Amino acid sequence: MDKELRSRQWFGRKGKDGFIYRAWMKNQGIPAHELQGKPVIGICNTWSELTPCNAHFRELAESVKHGIYEAGGFPVEFPVMSLGETLIKPTAMLYRNLVSMDVEESIRANPLDGVVLLCGCDKTTPALIMGAASVNLPTIVVSGGPMLTGKYRGQDISTSDVWRFSEAYRSGVMSDEELFVAEACMTRSRGHCAVMGTASTMACMVESLGLSLPENAAIPAADSRRKVLAHLSGSRIVDMVNEDLKLSDILTRQAFENAITVNAAIGGSTNFVIHLLAIAARIGVDLGMDDFNNIKNIPLLANLQPSGKYFMEDFYYAGGLPALMKELHAVLHRDSITVSGKPIEENYLRSECFNRDMIATMDKPFNLLAGIVVVKGNLCENGAVLKPSAASPALMNHTGRAVVFENIEDYKAKIDDPNLDVDETSVLVLKNVGPKGYPGMPEVGNMSIPKKLLEKGVTDMVRISDGRMSGTGFGTVVLHVSPEAAIGGTLAIVQNGDIIHLDVAAGLLQVELTEDEIIRRKGELQPFENLTSRGYVWLYQTHVEQAHLGADMVFLKGGSGTGVLRDSH
Ligand code: FES
Ligand code: MG
Repeated sequence: MDKELRSRQWFGRKGKDGFIYRAWMKNQGIPAHELQGKPVIGICNTWSELTPCNAHFRELAESVKHGIYEAGGFPVEFPVMSLGETLIKPTAMLYRNLVSMDVEESIRANPLDGVVLLCGCDKTTPALIMGAASVNLPTIVVSGGPMLTGKYRGQDISTSDVWRFSEAYRSGVMSDEELFVAEACMTRSRGHCAVMGTASTMACMVESLGLSLPENAAIPAADSRRKVLAHLSGSRIVDMVNEDLKLSDILTRQAFENAITVNAAIGGSTNFVIHLLAIAARIGVDLGMDDFNNIKNIPLLANLQPSGKYFMEDFYYAGGLPALMKELHAVLHRDSITVSGKPIEENYLRSECFNRDMIATMDKPFNLLAGIVVVKGNLCENGAVLKPSAASPALMNHTGRAVVFENIEDYKAKIDDPNLDVDETSVLVLKNVGPKGYPGMPEVGNMSIPKKLLEKGVTDMVRISDGRMSGTGFGTVVLHVSPEAAIGGTLAIVQNGDIIHLDVAAGLLQVELTEDEIIRRKGELQPFENLTSRGYVWLYQTHVEQAHLGADMVFLKGGSGTGVLRDSH
């Protein structure tokens, strides 16, 4: 350690300033030696009882602290706004950027030398990494871990079953009582959703980017080894400070490419695209929609719901992400540096696979279709995304008549109307659920199938929107249409009966309208009116970027480093 610790600008001061910076810390019973030159490590905690997936984080933070003390650091835990996917209205995504601001300013403004990010429920991971990236201190991530697999009447269940249960309920197969019993069976332990939904996708992203110690992605929240990982991460961050190993040393273009490769093989959520784009823009790595197309033809290796059959718990017992990354060795950038300070290959080369039905080999994958397909065309000039492993092969090249819903209220009012003019070949189009339009781009893109078609046994239809889909969802669903309807994208002018053509292999999404007709209809569009005129939501609606850029606020891109120009007294 040759450079003076950043925290010395507070605790190392003489006179009045040093007195103020140290004295109030001492009211917590901190002995003087803790503030005399030890690396000060912030533990950024998204604990909240309103974020049930992260409700065990105070306990996890204790394990991190043990590790920090052991390595000679001084831990300070601080809260930031937390985002619980299930309770927050209108959608947790609306607040991802707000949390990132909270995180960024909390880190920069305080006497911290390094940071541990405690991430779990979906948005808590990208929000914390985005904020930390704009400061760029030595940073390590500890994820909260997935729940244990749910058990319901002899079946293994988890979040993907919410969609199945709800369809069963709507078609009368499942009763109110059965649904009520199932909810407690599904979420029977601490942790985040136990399938390859967005939270697990984000935990895998963290590990494949090199931002965590190995095995972070899959150790169940209830498994004592999760605490061991937290302890070891606490020790490691102190060394990272001593080595001055910063986020920007780890988050290189190669690291992002590794994360994209791994995301394909695990069948990760479409939300991965939007969050990775936003993180890249914060750290200054040039990444675009086209980088997500699966040009290396990575197949699906993880047999995990919603694309496959197993749960995160099984993934861990089968060898976890290291065992899967070992299969990808030939296509990964193996020398990307991770938080360990060593090449990423050292995280996985010694791992073993204990269940080939869970983690497949490159020679015998579960599905040749994997990753994300970016489609473009006159309906989405800047792109839209689809997850082929969760889609129906028969619908991947499909032409159908549009059945249009102008907004979510219109959709809810009409979808189960027996008179709705729709059949299984129709294409459901939902407008105004984009970043600006909803606002906040909610996970409503996997619209339920009309009840009358469900009753006929239809299980999938082509669905298109400017919204997102839960990582636990499935179907032939085109999401993140950019530009969105609310800013006058072509999606806004689609009408009932227009012919829409989706060709996933060709990367195409077209509405069969002449250029003149599109211009004519756009000329008749009424300007979109924001629902709010003040506060954070106004700030968001007036500054949010489109989905193909990561839906960050334009003024938050990039970073401002660690410097604070003025003292507080
Ligand atoms: Fe928190 Fe699914 S609701 S991860
Ligand atoms: Mg979600």
